[in-house]
Amino acid sequence: MAKAIIAPSMLSSDFANLASEAERMLNCGADWLHMDIMDGHFVPNLTLGAPIIESLRKHTKAYLDCHLMVTNPLDYVEPLGKAGASGFTFHVEASRDNWQELVQKIKSKGMKPGVSLKPGTPIEEVYPLLDGENSVELVLVMTVEPGFGGQKFMPEMMDKVRTLRKKYPSLDIEVDGGLGPSTIEAATSAGANCIVAGSSVFGAPDPAQVITLLRVSVEE
Ligand code: DX5
Ligand code: ZN
Repeated sequence: MAKAIIAPSMLSSDFANLASEAERMLNCGADWLHMDIMDGHFVPNLTLGAPIIESLRKHTKAYLDCHLMVTNPLDYVEPLGKAGASGFTFHVEASRDNWQELVQKIKSKGMKPGVSLKPGTPIEEVYPLLDGENSVELVLVMTVEPGFGGQKFMPEMMDKVRTLRKKYPSLDIEVDGGLGPSTIEAATSAGANCIVAGSSVFGAPDPAQVITLLRVSVEE
């Protein structure tokens, strides 16, 4: 079984105090920091890119789990590698023609390659990326339409997680969108081991308590 990874989404943090927000989450027990990179084109929102990752990297050794919601992920590999990103998860919808080149390049820059899919994309689309030489090491199943934090979890996405877990017992399966104390059980019983949570962690009076609760649910 894949190990529990709890990744607070820094999209819900105070961007003006990113370094201290990151440190706060790590002190609360976070394993990874989830960094949402949006280009205002693939999704209708614009967030951050390599310069901010580079700045944050100067303040922390933490695993920076970058989720690329961009139209041209290939353009981001080199700058993000240089900036100190740890994971590079691109969207399958944005890489139908060049995913092999993309995975190869991500690995050559020392980052962990991952693939994500939007709610409307069937799970079968990621299968080719999981077999063979240029395979990804993580699948991020979106449980909301990508673009914004604070949306409602889509339980119907758990069929994708279940199907994937059956086929790949030790794969890192990440879920992202609307995860918190009231939805975690659905995700972990389906087989997710890597949990992204933004508003439920940052909005809690005691984020450490929420992180522990999420972790316990994965480990149960
Ligand atoms: C949405 C982002 C998520 C978002 C999750 O497109 O990919 O990472 O920050 O936020 P919550 O947990 O609030 O749904
Ligand atoms: Zn995300």
